Amino acid sequence: MNKDVIIACDFSSAAEVFDFLDLFSNMRKPFVKIGMELFYSEGPSIVREIKRRGHSIFLDLKLHDIPNTVRKAMRVLSSLDVDMCNVHAAGTKEMMKAAIEGLTRPDGSRPLLIAVTQLTSTGEDRMREELLINASMEETIARYALNAREAGLDGVVCSPREASLVKNSCGCDFITVTPGIRFADAASDDQVRVSTPAMARENGSDFIVVGRPVTAAADPAASYQRCINEFLI
Ligand code: C5P
Repeated sequence: MNKDVIIACDFSSAAEVFDFLDLFSNMRKPFVKIGMELFYSEGPSIVREIKRRGHSIFLDLKLHDIPNTVRKAMRVLSSLDVDMCNVHAAGTKEMMKAAIEGLTRPDGSRPLLIAVTQLTSTGEDRMREELLINASMEETIARYALNAREAGLDGVVCSPREASLVKNSCGCDFITVTPGIRFADAASDDQVRVSTPAMARENGSDFIVVGRPVTAAADPAASYQRCINEFLI
């Protein structure tokens, strides 16, 4: 598994995303993340078109439903030929196993499957008061990551600061995909627990997910190259 920088293409239309991706035509094609906003507005055709342009794709739809429904939905997604997709670990090991079954193609190949542990927008107060989870955030993340590994998944989404915790509990080959990335000299926007690309590398992150530091930059290609330089080189 190769480490990489994934650009979160949080745009609402195909036109915007293609204008954006055209900025990278003279360099390595970025690995891109397609989230709910773009997928729900443009449908599966946006995945096929970005794939046709030669990009690897993380389809970030965070499935969470009964095992049978997730199995069947994953069967549809596997035919889209994405490289990575995800589910909520809160859906239980049974649901995650069903997701793997649905995702696995007749020839045995499948995209990487990772689990969301706790969303970074959920704090310990809300976990305790609204979700009745009394364990600490760290214990919860470590346990959800272990559940994902036992179900056969490839890794989890977590903050870069949790990447080493996940590696310690699940092993260094268990993939960590980490959003919340900001350059040292930039604003953190609405992200609370941010890390630079270099800090994410030091903490054992395998893939960083970078949105606004690239998409809202004056020169997106230069910002992407800066991520590559700090994280990969
Ligand atoms: O613009 P920014 O770099 O904050 O974008 C981060 C991306 O990662 C967004 O697409 C956001 O939805 C996603 N994400 C996140 N935190 C999580 C899971 C996903 O920021 N825990």
